[in-house]
Amino acid sequence: MKIADLAVLRETGECSMATIRDVAKLANVSIATVSRVINQNGYVNGETKKKVNNAIELLKYKPNSIAKGLASGKTKTMALILPDISNPFFSELARAVEDSASSQGYTVFLCNTDSDTNKEKDYIRKMKDRFVDGILFAGHTLQEPEIKTLEEEKIPLVVLDRAPGEDICLVVRSNNREGAKLAVRHLLEIGCNKIAHIYGPQEVATARERLLGFEEAVKEFSWYTPSLLEQGDFTIKGGMDAVGLLLKRHPDVDGIFTGNDLMALGALKKLKQLKIKVPDQISLIGFDGIELTEITEPEITTIAQPIYQIGSLATSLLIKKIEGSLLLHKSHEIDVELVVRGSTKGNSKVIS
Ligand code: RIB
Repeated sequence: MKIADLAVLRETGECSMATIRDVAKLANVSIATVSRVINQNGYVNGETKKKVNNAIELLKYKPNSIAKGLASGKTKTMALILPDISNPFFSELARAVEDSASSQGYTVFLCNTDSDTNKEKDYIRKMKDRFVDGILFAGHTLQEPEIKTLEEEKIPLVVLDRAPGEDICLVVRSNNREGAKLAVRHLLEIGCNKIAHIYGPQEVATARERLLGFEEAVKEFSWYTPSLLEQGDFTIKGGMDAVGLLLKRHPDVDGIFTGNDLMALGALKKLKQLKIKVPDQISLIGFDGIELTEITEPEITTIAQPIYQIGSLATSLLIKKIEGSLLLHKSHEIDVELVVRGSTKGNSKVIS
């Protein structure tokens, strides 16, 4: 096909996409010259540059960013793989990642896996097929073998929120065990005499660590019995169901610590349905620090994770790794803080 015909087809919209080869033919230069003009690297004389730019305009040529990335070895994209973007913890985390990535010239592909192992693995494969420069991963099925494979394939990775093991990759997360102990200390300080814990799904490392921290904090008390533990699932409904079962076993509980804020929201709703006053009869404390805990009545006391800091630090570490900095594989564990509100007795204040 003659280039002029191609130009006509472009004009009429009948031609889908001109290529760098078409531009080179129309301008009567090499593909390398067109590439130098597009990427503004290397010398091209004025007359030739004008011919190339005219051809680009006539053909409405759009450089393919993936092809361009392949040429330079960088696509300036990253994948953010999360288990549940409907949970405000993860959407607030995604906000921080996108702010940090876009301020450094990177585009983020957001992948939601519903904590499904196959979806997690499938997304990792799809993101590799799209030549992302690196992966930010929060989930619980990425274990040592998968991480070693990504290392061998030289795909930079930072794991968020849940450490898959000791120092096998870069991790950014909160100090969950200490956070659970901080929650128990607060309930004891305000006078609770019998404290229960609604814990998250035990296949998730953060839920296991908070349960461990809770047990370490209460095991010496005479009132403690394992029947003060009730399984939840990190959802609002899970918190509602768990508190109902708990109070059937222990109607004299006067303090409840939930493994995340969504379960605390559910527990609060159930306690209201049971006409139990919070905090007068039962004090309630959650974990995460999501904004929803500020709109309930009473507002919910919580152990706030530095969600935004986790997201932005993880993103900056990943970009450093993408751009060649040699970073030690280590877990960056960030402190949490107690945010006291109306669901526990005591004045509103922040304690680290
Ligand atoms: O609310 C979701 C929970 O899953 C958070 O506590 C976060 O740490 C993640 O592990």
